[in-house]
Amino acid sequence: MKSAIVLAAGKGTRMKSQLGKVMHCVADKPMIGHIVTALKQAGVSRIVVIVGHDAQSVKAYLGDEVSYALQEPQLGTGHAVMQAQELADLGGDTIVLNGDGPCIQKETIEQAFAANETHALTVLSAVLDQGLHYGRIVRDEQGHVKKIVEAKDCTPSELEIKEINTGLFVFKNKELFAGLKEIRNDNAQKEYYLTDLVEIFNRNGWSTNAMIVKDHEETMGVNDRLDLAKAEAWMRKHINERHMREGVTLIDPDHTYIGADVTIKADTIIYPNVVIQGNTNIGSHVQILPNSFLRDAIIGDDVVIDSSKIVDSQVDAHTTVGPMSHLRGHTHIHEHCRIGNFVEFKNSDFGEGSKCAHLTYIGDSDFGKQINVGCGVVTVNYDGKHKFRTTVKDGAFIGSNCNLIAPVTIGENALLAAGSTITDSVADGDMGIARNRQMNKEGLGTKYKQK
Ligand code: UD1
Ligand code: CA
Repeated sequence: MKSAIVLAAGKGTRMKSQLGKVMHCVADKPMIGHIVTALKQAGVSRIVVIVGHDAQSVKAYLGDEVSYALQEPQLGTGHAVMQAQELADLGGDTIVLNGDGPCIQKETIEQAFAANETHALTVLSAVLDQGLHYGRIVRDEQGHVKKIVEAKDCTPSELEIKEINTGLFVFKNKELFAGLKEIRNDNAQKEYYLTDLVEIFNRNGWSTNAMIVKDHEETMGVNDRLDLAKAEAWMRKHINERHMREGVTLIDPDHTYIGADVTIKADTIIYPNVVIQGNTNIGSHVQILPNSFLRDAIIGDDVVIDSSKIVDSQVDAHTTVGPMSHLRGHTHIHEHCRIGNFVEFKNSDFGEGSKCAHLTYIGDSDFGKQINVGCGVVTVNYDGKHKFRTTVKDGAFIGSNCNLIAPVTIGENALLAAGSTITDSVADGDMGIARNRQMNKEGLGTKYKQK
């Protein structure tokens, strides 16, 4: 059985933030969320998250996907793991990872468990040009891991060591909880260091092991906003490469921002400066032109999106959107539609084959199929206090510059004369016209010009 303990109680002082460190987002997803996803993908069945600072937001975000142990006060990483007592009597292996290492991948977690099969402890280490603030891996003459020394406790020669502790360990559960009892806080930070377990295990004759990770950036810890930007860049590259391998064209992957949970089918082309977030699902053969923003959007096959914003909305196959359209608030545009320049839709349904090509606002409306909406049409859905719905049935033709004062229903194949302000419903097949007749004044144009 595989268990995990994720350390997420620390304050993250260097983030200079009100938000708990592990709730900061990388690729549009809280760091702790990335870690839990990777653990689940690696088949870890029990996950205990150690919470402390900003425990509330961590719990609200992860919900009952995991269980929690409160660490209060926070006396170090070893003390944090002690709080996961609920795992103490379980067998199997437990992985311990830092909540501030968002880039860890499923494959590495699997390799770490495999590496620990014949050992009681495996620490994942990395070899860096400079050890920086990381704990140093001290090996004996035979190359065996002797202990980990925190940078603040290192002798000058230990500081020279380039092999560092990534903060990720796998333990045999039984030895882990036995070893924790021996941790003391006699060090520079007066903390209970998890890293002391290496020496404790060796002393007890429990087999210890270090596995050097392939890509040390994958195990980077985020301690401040500079690290956060580094993690963001790593994750962006990683996510974009995954989509490209799956058959998506990114014209400029360095300037394409795709969230961790977005799905995109093959043969879709994404242009630079596109941001795609949340639970967005995109079909195949879609073209997303520059400067588009999508969040929680569902996009069908063969859709073209040009410099537009789509939030909480669905666009079905063979539809074109934009340039400069804004679809929001649970709007659903069906197949073969055309949504054009400077058009806004909110909380509306727009039926198959309907067109709305220019300068229009459609809010709280239900439009049927094969409707043509002229330029500059406005559904007047709000009287300052209440919102009302507009209904337009199949085949209707809404002339340019009409106002539809909701609630109002326009019947099948009905026609609205351009420039009408429609306050009453129009029956199937009828025409609604609501404007004054034109009057022409002879010669008044010339006279005006001469003045
Ligand atoms: C830790 C390791 C160090 C390693 C580095 C890798 C120890 C003593 N040091 O140092 O060897 O190179 O990670 O990034 O383990 N946390 C708690 N409760 C606490 C203290 C920390 O939950 O009482 C959590 C933090 O929220 C954080 C993680 O543990 O997610 C790591 O803590 P942090 O203070 O960042 O440790 P480092 O100094 O980076
Ligand atoms: Ca850290």
